[in-house]
Amino acid sequence: MKEVKTIGILTSGGDAPGMNACIRALTRGAIHEGWRVFGIYRGFEGLINNEMTEFTTESVSNTIQRGGTILKTARSQEFMTYEGRQKAYNNLRERGVDALFVIGGNGSLAGAEQFAHDFDFPCIGLPGTIDNDLYGTDSTIGYDTALNTIVEAVDKIHDTATSHDRIFFIEVMGRDAGFLAQNSAIAAGAEAAIIPEDQTDMDQLSTFIGRGIRKSKNSSIVIVSESPKTGGAMHYAERIRTEYPQYDVRVTILGYLQRGGTPTAFDRILASRLGVAAIEALKEGQRNVMIGIKNDEMTYVPIAKAIKKDKPVEKELIDVLGILSI
Ligand code: F6P
Repeated sequence: MKEVKTIGILTSGGDAPGMNACIRALTRGAIHEGWRVFGIYRGFEGLINNEMTEFTTESVSNTIQRGGTILKTARSQEFMTYEGRQKAYNNLRERGVDALFVIGGNGSLAGAEQFAHDFDFPCIGLPGTIDNDLYGTDSTIGYDTALNTIVEAVDKIHDTATSHDRIFFIEVMGRDAGFLAQNSAIAAGAEAAIIPEDQTDMDQLSTFIGRGIRKSKNSSIVIVSESPKTGGAMHYAERIRTEYPQYDVRVTILGYLQRGGTPTAFDRILASRLGVAAIEALKEGQRNVMIGIKNDEMTYVPIAKAIKKDKPVEKELIDVLGILSI
């Protein structure tokens, strides 16, 4: 006879397209095993406030194509305190939940890791963030959709940039990671990407200017990562205005439109595979790991390692952009 488990699922931190596909996969994967599922609303905040509903297969019908998260999300200050986490633990015990699945980014998985440690409670992490900054997976859920959204927007800006002979600085999300900036620059044919990881280049703007806003080109697109380490798009636009007044400069901050929208097929498939693998991992007795896919192989990375921020933007990507933007 199968052991019947009860699991809880929550989404936390910034929403990411594909989170619903992951909630769906976890729910149906668990029900397939004969387990019970509680959907927890508003992330850790909702867990503290006991906002949970039992999920059936129908609870996740018609959700795979929707952006955002049907469970809603939050960034919880209270969960940062031991008292907050104690309330969360009590609520899980009261409902008989014996494992927690957390879909989120760096901060959310750090919360799951702390919670697992405090109460010796099994937690499984699912990488859900547009930033792609989790170690142990080639791609996080939502990254591909956000990347495509950015590329579509930059293509449009290209039209007006070339019509007016202007330099555009386009700021994209990513927090402290430059994946969205670097890869959208390659995909959209931008002249440069300014990213926090490119430590080899102390002054990325001067290099860009030095390389030439070339005579053969009369407009330029520079993608800037939002990180405080880069200073953001406004900072570079101001510098150009003072140091190179001959150029006509504009700024576009893409902002939250990058986080919304219908998930791509890639994100839906990734989320579905990770969700099913996460249920399998719990069944096999794994705990406190993040499930990822690397080189098309499932990976089970200790959460502590996944959140360490040592996932580099490959130098090869920096070189590709440099070579192709001459
Ligand atoms: O982590 C996802 C993300 O969209 C980052 O790219 C961005 O820096 C951050 O969330 C914004 O968070 P919030 O919506 O809480 O301001």
